[in-house]
Amino acid sequence: MSTEKTRIAVLVSGGGTNLQAILDAVDSGVITHGEVKVVISSRADAYALERAKKHGVDGKVVSRKNCQSQQAFETGIIDILDAYKIDLIVLAGFMSILSADFTKKYENRILNVHPSLIPSFCGKGFYGLKVHEAALSYGVKVTGATVHFVNEIPDGGEIILQKAVYIEPDDTPETLQKRVMQEAEWKILPEAVEIVSERLMKEKEN
Ligand code: GAR
Repeated sequence: MSTEKTRIAVLVSGGGTNLQAILDAVDSGVITHGEVKVVISSRADAYALERAKKHGVDGKVVSRKNCQSQQAFETGIIDILDAYKIDLIVLAGFMSILSADFTKKYENRILNVHPSLIPSFCGKGFYGLKVHEAALSYGVKVTGATVHFVNEIPDGGEIILQKAVYIEPDDTPETLQKRVMQEAEWKILPEAVEIVSERLMKEKEN
């Protein structure tokens, strides 16, 4: 009997272009060892949910603002992960910080994409456009993206892949964000998902 592919949940909060990159990579054969089983959004109005629907993937909402506590929020997420028997969690533009209890429970099973070369411009308060504003205001000439495992330290887990992107003299936070996505995030996130999916599938075989 052949081993089942790694069962993936993608956690989102916004536009979901990184989710799209993962779904496209499954279709094009860049990801062969994993399957996206569910998309979980922390916001009911996230466009990422539309992308999941268009792709025939189940979408669920666990709204942070409707939960009384962080614990209730995370229990809501864990219930879905259990129901779908998820092996690997991918944070793709997920804008809520997860507790140490959560990250310990899924040690080496949570990936995150961050839009800078960690350890630059990362940690608490550095998310989305703010990361690119910080890179431009510091005046660095090279930035990029990082995919890493998630532990209890924000953006502090083991690095899996990084890709550099040059800053152009006339870049704005918006143009830089777009180029970092196109040249780095949408490439290294699917690649990292495949690397870890293959690893987890082999673990299941043994
Ligand atoms: C991406 O640039 C992602 O790296 C970033 O938010 C954007 C989400 O876009 N994540 C963080 O800043 C996390 N610290 P998307 O919803 O189109 O994938």
